[in-house]
Amino acid sequence: MATFSFPEMLLLSLVMGSFIAASAGDFHQEFELTWGDERAQILDGGKLLTLTLDKTSGSGFRSKSEYLFGRIDMQIKLVSGNSAGTVTAFYLSSEGPNHDEIDFEFLGNLSGDPYILHTNVYSQGKGDREQQFYLWFDPTKNFHTYSIVWNLQRIIYMVDNIPIRVFNNEESFGVPFPKNQPMKLYSSLWNADQWATRGGLVKTDWSKAPFKAYFRNFNANACVWSNGESDCASKTSGSLINNVLRTQALDASGRRRLRWVQKYFMVYNYCTDLKRFPLGRPRECRRSRFL
Ligand SMILES: *[C@@H]1O[C@H](CO)[C@@H](O)[C@H](O)[C@H]1NC(C)=O
Repeated sequence: MATFSFPEMLLLSLVMGSFIAASAGDFHQEFELTWGDERAQILDGGKLLTLTLDKTSGSGFRSKSEYLFGRIDMQIKLVSGNSAGTVTAFYLSSEGPNHDEIDFEFLGNLSGDPYILHTNVYSQGKGDREQQFYLWFDPTKNFHTYSIVWNLQRIIYMVDNIPIRVFNNEESFGVPFPKNQPMKLYSSLWNADQWATRGGLVKTDWSKAPFKAYFRNFNANACVWSNGESDCASKTSGSLINNVLRTQALDASGRRRLRWVQKYFMVYNYCTDLKRFPLGRPRECRRSRFL
C-alpha cells in the first residue's frame, strides 16, 4: 500500500469530544465474557481484555449495559503476524428478529498484507450495506481507537477520530434507521476462513495458533437503557445530553477527512456495486453525498 502524507491528521480538532459523563474502563464492571471459556480473559485489574482463537474455538464478550444512542470507543490491537482467516468483530446489536446492528469487522491477512476493515449497518433485520477499507497504519503494532457515534440523525464510524463512514437517517426517504431498539456492544474473535481473506482463498494457518486480540480503554458516552427507559431521559442526565446526542455531526474538517479515507482507502462500497443492484442502487445511496 502506498503511504499518504496528511498533515491535517496531526491537527486533529476533535469533531466530537466527550460531552457527558462517561463510563470508562473497568472490563469487569462493564462486560461479561460470553463464550470461548478461558480464551477470553480480563487482565490487569480490569484494564485489559484479551480474546483468543485456537483450532477448537474462538471467544467473545458483550457489554452488560444496553445503549440507545451515544458514542462508544474501544482501543483494539489486532491479531499480528499471519492472521489470515481470522475475524475480529466489534459491533453494537439489538436482539430478536428484525434486529439492528452497527458493525466493525477486521479481516486478517498474511503477514505484511493489509487487514480489511469491513463495516455494515442493519436496520430492522436488513443489512447488505457493506463498505470496506484498508487502514493507513498497521493495526497489529499498536492500539488504535475504533468508535461508533450513533444518534437520531446518523451513524458515524471513526478510526482514531477520523470518520470513515457516515450512514444518515433517511427515514423520510423510506429507509429504516436504527432508533428504537437498544443495543449491546459485542466483540469476538473467530475463524471465518470460508470468506474473510481474499474471499476465502487463504485459509487459517493453525500452526500459528493461538491468535490473540487485545482491548483496552473502553468508553461509552451513551444513553443506557434499562427497564424500558433511557437514562438520558431522566432528570439527572438532563436534556442537554439528549440534544448533544441528537445533533453530533461532521464539521468541515471531518468531511474532508471522510473524503480522504473514502478516496484512498475504500476497497468496497455497496453503493457503487451496480452489478449487485441491477434494479437500482439502494435508496440511501442515491441520497448521500458520501455515496
Ligand atoms: C490481503 O492482501 C491482499 C494482497 O495485498 C489484498 O488483496 C486483500 O485485500 C487483503 N485483505 C484481505 C482481508 O483479504
